[in-house]
Amino acid sequence: MKKYLLSLVALVANVRGHTNHSFPANFIFGAATASYQVEGAWNHEGKGVNIWDTLTHDHPDFMTDLSNGDIAANSYFKYKEDVQLLKKIGANFYRFSVSWSRILPTGQTNVINQAGVDYYNNLINELLANGIEPMVTIFHWDLPQPLQDLGGMTNKFIVDIFVDYARVLFVHFGDRVKWWITFNEPAVFSIGYTTARGFAPSVNAPGIGNYLAVHSILLAHAKTYHMYRREFWAKQQGNMSLALNSRWFEPKTNSTEDVQSAQRAIQFYLGLYAHPIFSQEGDYPKLVKDRIAQKSLDEGFFRSRLPKFTKEQISHIRGTFDFFGLNHYTTSLTTVGNTENQGPSLEADVWAQRLFDRSWKETGDPSRKVVPWGFRKLLNWIKNEYNNPPVFITENGVSDPTEFNDTLRIHYYTHYLNEMLNAMFQDGCNVIGYAAWSLIDNFEWNSGYTQRFGLFHVNFTDPERTRTAKESSRVYAEIIRTRQIPARHFHSASQD
Ligand SMILES: *[C@@H]1O[C@H](CO)[C@@H](O)[C@H](O)[C@H]1NC(C)=O
Ligand SMILES: *[C@@H]1O[C@H](CO)[C@@H](O)[C@H](O)[C@H]1NC(C)=O
Ligand SMILES: *[C@@H]1O[C@H](CO)[C@@H](O)[C@H](O)[C@H]1NC(C)=O
Ligand SMILES: *[C@@H]1O[C@H](CO)[C@@H](O)[C@H](O)[C@H]1NC(C)=O
Ligand SMILES: *[C@@H]1O[C@H](CO)[C@@H](O)[C@H](O)[C@H]1NC(C)=O
Repeated sequence: MKKYLLSLVALVANVRGHTNHSFPANFIFGAATASYQVEGAWNHEGKGVNIWDTLTHDHPDFMTDLSNGDIAANSYFKYKEDVQLLKKIGANFYRFSVSWSRILPTGQTNVINQAGVDYYNNLINELLANGIEPMVTIFHWDLPQPLQDLGGMTNKFIVDIFVDYARVLFVHFGDRVKWWITFNEPAVFSIGYTTARGFAPSVNAPGIGNYLAVHSILLAHAKTYHMYRREFWAKQQGNMSLALNSRWFEPKTNSTEDVQSAQRAIQFYLGLYAHPIFSQEGDYPKLVKDRIAQKSLDEGFFRSRLPKFTKEQISHIRGTFDFFGLNHYTTSLTTVGNTENQGPSLEADVWAQRLFDRSWKETGDPSRKVVPWGFRKLLNWIKNEYNNPPVFITENGVSDPTEFNDTLRIHYYTHYLNEMLNAMFQDGCNVIGYAAWSLIDNFEWNSGYTQRFGLFHVNFTDPERTRTAKESSRVYAEIIRTRQIPARHFHSASQD
């Protein structure tokens, strides 16, 4: 009788959209964090000051809860415990970032901080001793302050300085690290160069600073990729890419205006960064170049606010990847722009408004809703636009305020992974790995500690920063172990 009921449940689950596909044997699972969000020890043992230290100390009012990452989850001291959490879920890899200022306090190679090198060596060795592969993000937003004082990513000198920094990491860690991410989310980091009140480094140059930053980042990424291939690859043989973020943009209606606004949105928010690297022809997307050039002229500039690549630079950047790193969280409906935003600005250049459907499930973060089918559509877009590259999901996750029994997060992971399997098995998208964001609750930038993204809870009022398993960590562990999405989470699923 019980057996009969169970198979009935499975049948219903199937009707509700649960896929019965299994993850391929070589598919790898892990979890991600970033240095400033978890490490703490902001001025410990020779670490230099970075732009997030500066922003949080000078402008606590820019953070929802007036907080900072001085201690954060204290992972600098608790990394062994973090590795045990990864082991508990059965992770194959851990994606973490290196704090540039911890290794190079001045930002440049004249001072190498041995304590910083030791910390990452210890973390890497602890991971490997527990059967977990390190995936290292070279830059996850915490730019050394002395480099920002010279203009940071808007000054072209940063390209060579970044390559020097990356070389230090390959020399010290490349014998054991086989997965490298040069830059995390240039689309989000470059927002720091558009407004004086917000994201570090908080430079007020909308429609200008962000494009200068993107230009340097793409050149620095490509130069690092070629340097690694030339100087290290024969010995180290690691895989390298960058992590690009994108939501899916669904036209609000089937009107030509809405469909075109969705095309503009994805080309400006993803294509701007991806097209130079992953397309056959390289360079920024034509749609993006043309719009910024025209608007710049209309605004009285003598040249486009988007810098131009030379022919040599276009071919230098094209193809500098071993996989496509994708961070994905949510989907928006898209319609034409909002007349209040005249520019110059990225938003006025894109001329697309982002809205949510009221029926979509809410999350702890008002800027994101739960839309699993959007993930499948985005994976298909990348497959079609860039000739089906191997895609590595470098971040995916949700803010759920519930401290321990995080049923929203369980719903999110099971449904997003289900759509990812559909993209792989029904649509032929080549997805090779998946990192949950995040391993532990952490400092969520301008939201401080008000948004919890962890599989494990961190008590930020406890000096011990005690970690506790949430229910979602058990479900994720089950998925990794069984290589399937448990169907029981689909019974009460709403239409999303
Ligand atoms: C799903 O697949 C598993 C193993 O591949 C199988 O045992 C089970 O019967 C399948 N369930 C459904 C509902 O097809
Ligand atoms: C690099 O990625 C490819 C898949 O794109 C994989 O076959 C290979 O094993 C990876 N190399 C390493 C060192 O992990
Ligand atoms: C747009 O057209 C497609 C295909 O005909 C349809 O599936 C979809 O529901 C339509 N979307 C809207 C918002 O009307
Ligand atoms: C978590 O909450 C769900 C829904 O309210 C409930 O069914 C489940 O028993 C709870 N789990 C635990 C471990 O408390
Ligand atoms: C967090 O730690 C504080 C201090 O140790 C304790 O009073 C509180 O109950 C803890 N909160 C949770 C949710 O465990």
